[in-house]
Amino acid sequence: MRVLFATSEIHPLMKTGGLADVSASLPHALFELGVDIRLVMPAYADTLSRLKAWQVVSELNLGIFGSARLLRSQMPGSRVPLFLIEHPSFSTRTGNPYNDTTGHAWPDNAERFTLFSRACEMLALDQAMLDWQPDIVHGNDWQTGILLSLLRDNPQAPPSLITIHNLAYQGVFDRATFEQLGLPARLWRPDALEHWGEMNCLKAGLNAARKIATVSPSYAREIQTPAFGQGLDGMLRQRQADVLGMINGIDMDEWNPAADAHLAAAYTLNSLENKALNKVALQREMGLDMDAEAMLIGMVGRMTEQKGLDVVLAAAEQIMQRPVQLAMLGGGDATLEAAFQALMLRHPGRVSVRLGYNEGLAHRIEAGSDVFLMPSRFEPCGLNQLYSLRYGTPPIVHGVGGLNDTVIDTYEATLANGSANGFVMRNLDVPAILWGVSRALEFFQQPKVWAILQTHGMAQDFGWTASAQRYLELYQELTQKPSDSSAATTTPIAPIPEVKLPSSKPTRSHAASKA
Ligand code: ADP
Ligand code: GLC
Repeated sequence: MRVLFATSEIHPLMKTGGLADVSASLPHALFELGVDIRLVMPAYADTLSRLKAWQVVSELNLGIFGSARLLRSQMPGSRVPLFLIEHPSFSTRTGNPYNDTTGHAWPDNAERFTLFSRACEMLALDQAMLDWQPDIVHGNDWQTGILLSLLRDNPQAPPSLITIHNLAYQGVFDRATFEQLGLPARLWRPDALEHWGEMNCLKAGLNAARKIATVSPSYAREIQTPAFGQGLDGMLRQRQADVLGMINGIDMDEWNPAADAHLAAAYTLNSLENKALNKVALQREMGLDMDAEAMLIGMVGRMTEQKGLDVVLAAAEQIMQRPVQLAMLGGGDATLEAAFQALMLRHPGRVSVRLGYNEGLAHRIEAGSDVFLMPSRFEPCGLNQLYSLRYGTPPIVHGVGGLNDTVIDTYEATLANGSANGFVMRNLDVPAILWGVSRALEFFQQPKVWAILQTHGMAQDFGWTASAQRYLELYQELTQKPSDSSAATTTPIAPIPEVKLPSSKPTRSHAASKA
């Protein structure tokens, strides 16, 4: 089984969020299952500086975009082959792959991810001097939507699937932009990439992919409803039979409290007392009072509307009336950043906020906190709650998406049957957050019960074994000949007839900014 796995970020080569973690750990797990999987991503300036070595394979002619070099390398610390598309629009910019330093989307994102798609298309069709053609193209999020759309009608192209990591980012651009991309005019249709008069890269990918995976069973159901569908719920309902929820795994080696080089002290289920050393070290590092009794609440993540941080702010003064501390690491929305900094100034020694990206501190917050707060408005899967469970730091979450599928609320019955591992708020508002924090505090103040709760989470297996196996079965299903009966479960994707492009009407310019 040969698979081309196309993605816009891979940890540790480029990361803005969980997509990068999954783009590293899922292919690794598939590789271990014997899949000939090869990764392809853009060669960002920072990526090239993080890689030790690479070779130039070929020069790809990308038409109006000029040419790009195809580089071959290997994932750091693994044997998974990695291809990079080196084009000046990626390789001459440092920092965030989607946004400039002010947080605005790069103005040429449509061009950048179209040329990335064009280059990946050449790999998919064995036109890149590799002498290797995949049996499956696996795309991820909007940045690979155009790729899947380009492959859709080509009889030489392998079947494709897409994984949606976040439906909120769709890669939306105006009509005038579309016309400058040199894409086939026939794609300007609602069953390809047109969506209410705009170009929508994610929709293009969803329409083209034979199967649509998303990263948890709950999110797979939620995105088919108007409340979570981000305007695409109608088309997802139509493709209901092809939409699958597969829960993400984590890298159990990288996120392992027994052997984590970022921590002050290693610990396991049998040496939980060492976790307290990490709390002390975290309090020192973040300038918090050395208070062993206070329940230290950790938070790590992108500061966006998705993560429910506005509700935390609304509840903050009431939360701080309780014996708690707050340690937060994140970055993003300038208003949220400023509001959390103001909260820190109002509660010196009890609230500490660090802005920016800091890999080591993310690990230390997972280990040193007592509880982990994740009140996301929606959460396709969420990895931070899985990391916190593994680190004996019970999560307090809003019960949506992957949070709903991985966190089991604590009450008598779930404590008794060994499933309780955290606290689940059924609503997202100030009373719900206060309820969640108070409930956690109530159990935190009963050390014996707390240890049971920590043990449940730490004993769980969050690895990739089950989900990687399911992806492999999906690849096998997609590569079966049409005469095989099981292949009939896949909806055939109709070819798009050639059409004449009507004259353009400029529409609102509007760009997506994240994976
Ligand atoms: P999302 O992908 O929506 O951002 P996830 O929970 O799936 O949410 O994954 C977030 C990933 O990004 C985790 O690995 C988390 O540790 C990491 N992360 C987020 N913000 C930061 C930050 N400021 N510094 C370090 N790591 C971060
Ligand atoms: C997205 C989602 C997050 C998920 C991650 C990896 O960024 O917001 O919930 O865990 O992708 O799939």
